[in-house]
Amino acid sequence: MTVRDFPENFLWGSASSAYQTEGGNTNNDWFQWEHADGTSAAEPAGDGIDHFSRYDSDFALLAALGQRAHRMGLEWSRIEPAEGEFSQAALDHYRRVLLSMRRHGLLAVVTLHHFTLPRWLTDRGGWLAADAVEVFGRYVDRVAAELGDLMPYVGPINEPQILALGSYGQGMFPPGVRDLAVATTVSFTLMKAHRRAVTGLRAGKGNPLIGACLQLIPFEPLLPGDPGDEAAAAALNSMMTELPLADLAAGGDVGDWVGLQYYTRARIDSRSPQLLAPPPDGAETTDSGWEVYPTGFGQMLQRISAARLPIIVTENGIATTDDSQRLRFLAAHLAVLKQEMDRGLDVRGYFVWAAFDNFEWGAGFRPRFGMIGIDRADGMRRVVRPSAVAFGRLASTGDLSEMTGAAR
Ligand code: BGC
Repeated sequence: MTVRDFPENFLWGSASSAYQTEGGNTNNDWFQWEHADGTSAAEPAGDGIDHFSRYDSDFALLAALGQRAHRMGLEWSRIEPAEGEFSQAALDHYRRVLLSMRRHGLLAVVTLHHFTLPRWLTDRGGWLAADAVEVFGRYVDRVAAELGDLMPYVGPINEPQILALGSYGQGMFPPGVRDLAVATTVSFTLMKAHRRAVTGLRAGKGNPLIGACLQLIPFEPLLPGDPGDEAAAAALNSMMTELPLADLAAGGDVGDWVGLQYYTRARIDSRSPQLLAPPPDGAETTDSGWEVYPTGFGQMLQRISAARLPIIVTENGIATTDDSQRLRFLAAHLAVLKQEMDRGLDVRGYFVWAAFDNFEWGAGFRPRFGMIGIDRADGMRRVVRPSAVAFGRLASTGDLSEMTGAAR
């Protein structure tokens, strides 16, 4: 007898982004960053996982495994290669991509901006340009007019506050600025850009359901009661969690759902230059050095419910070369998800980051987030891991023991 742990129409899928998978993107700020001297980038994204050409067989594989939905991205610098100049060929390509998803029975959740900016925009200030929101809006308008009918769900901007922090606060992403005040300004700008995207999408074709996708991190003082740690944790919490959630709660049209992306917690040590303390002694960690901390997932699900919108978990996953660790990670986080739903949270879907091993930004291709591996020595052959099989069964049956059983 199968007992359904999750609702029948729950959105089960995995996630990817354009730059991390497509390959052949040379017209954005990340390409420049990877090829500039003195940046922290490990290697170029190059051919990615050649998803640009292989999207159809990739979608066929995800569907055959049992997945029902897929979160993917459009690359702005392909669609608008020069300012105000739109590529019909790129738009037609993405139309074929979205039609392929539909044909394979995968519901599309589309990201319009996932960390990469066209070069022409970074050349004149990127998200600090005075007209950045309107320029982004013009791109969204065009995409909505061309492709809106094929985008049932849209999460316009991936992790606005992480983008702001990585690019302008920690200097880990282009343009490599390290100034928390600038990062806070950019975070506000990106929330405005989210609202502008909602307006554009409402006016376009079709009727996409729209959501802001936020990575939420529990920021905890390393030493509770220590004034420095408490203050630093509070400042990060305010910028990364409170401000975007307050913006979503402030009224006006902010969309139809909210996306939660969750990986780990952060213990804040005001004496360390990066403000980050290592995970506690003995804690399980991932290949990225992040602590495995499912408790924080429950906390952040609760926190994001303040937006008073249905929740979709748009990313959750782990970098590991040990797929049994991935199975345990997913099973533990899904158990927390079920518990929170049983307590009444309105969660509509769950997407594993990532569908495939892919380009992990500054860390290059080394971290393995995929439920499906890529054999780069063998023509980028797709290698289905046990986690992908178990997750596909869960997607088909709604039965959590598909994961927990496989994880044992
Ligand atoms: C991003 C992904 C990234 C993942 C793992 C998220 O912040 O949206 O692009 O690969 O985390 O680091």
